[in-house]
Amino acid sequence: MKNINLKSAAIAVLALTALAAGCNKNATQQAAAPAPATAYTAAQVTRGAELVNEWKCSFCHTPEMKGPDGKPMPNPERLLSGHPQDEKIPDVSDMVITSDAFMEFLDNLDNTAWASNDMLVFSANLTPDAETGIGTWTDVQFVGTMRQGMHMGLGRRLLYPMPWQELAELSDSDLISIYAYLRTVEPVSNKVPPPIVLYR
Ligand code: HEC
Repeated sequence: MKNINLKSAAIAVLALTALAAGCNKNATQQAAAPAPATAYTAAQVTRGAELVNEWKCSFCHTPEMKGPDGKPMPNPERLLSGHPQDEKIPDVSDMVITSDAFMEFLDNLDNTAWASNDMLVFSANLTPDAETGIGTWTDVQFVGTMRQGMHMGLGRRLLYPMPWQELAELSDSDLISIYAYLRTVEPVSNKVPPPIVLYR
């Protein structure tokens, strides 16, 4: 009896797996991107891409590299992956605020590191990487982050210059579309450092 049950359970699992595989295939075709865990429509992904472009998320969230003409350009391999974890941050704790060294440090900050008020803030990894990005969030957590200005909608407050107050005005459907698009971006493993206090 026990064996028969196990066997039918195994068949049920197989059937479910086949069903899930079928669904996933469909979603992949629609989105023309790595299969997201939740099936978003192609229209959502397209709308999300439009909004990400319009709001210039990449301007702050994509690290730059030297382009062919020597000018900085967004690094296509690190699209939306935030402040590079391997970029060395000089120890500024002992620097005098008015010193040349401190001014030089501020001048040399790139587009993923921001000195705002008394903090040095690093742009977050928006790729779907499960460990270091935002790929495991639910729609509710993403919308909550934008509306409350808090990590996952309930964590620490997001610091300037992340423009969440303006993004909070978008409709649920637009915010979910942004998340739908972000889920299709190439996952990049990059652990962004937490903000640090600049002035003591
Ligand atoms: C002017 C620069 C700037 C722009 C433009 C910008 N961001 Fe940000 N964003 C940041 C910074 C800096 C942080 C980190 C804030 C912090 O650590 O407190 C951040 C944080 C976030 C977070 C929080 C991640 C987490 O783990 O809590 C999300 C989500 C996010 N941004 C999404 C977006 C999206 C989507 C757009 C475009 C619609 C966008 N950002 C546009 C600078 C920006």
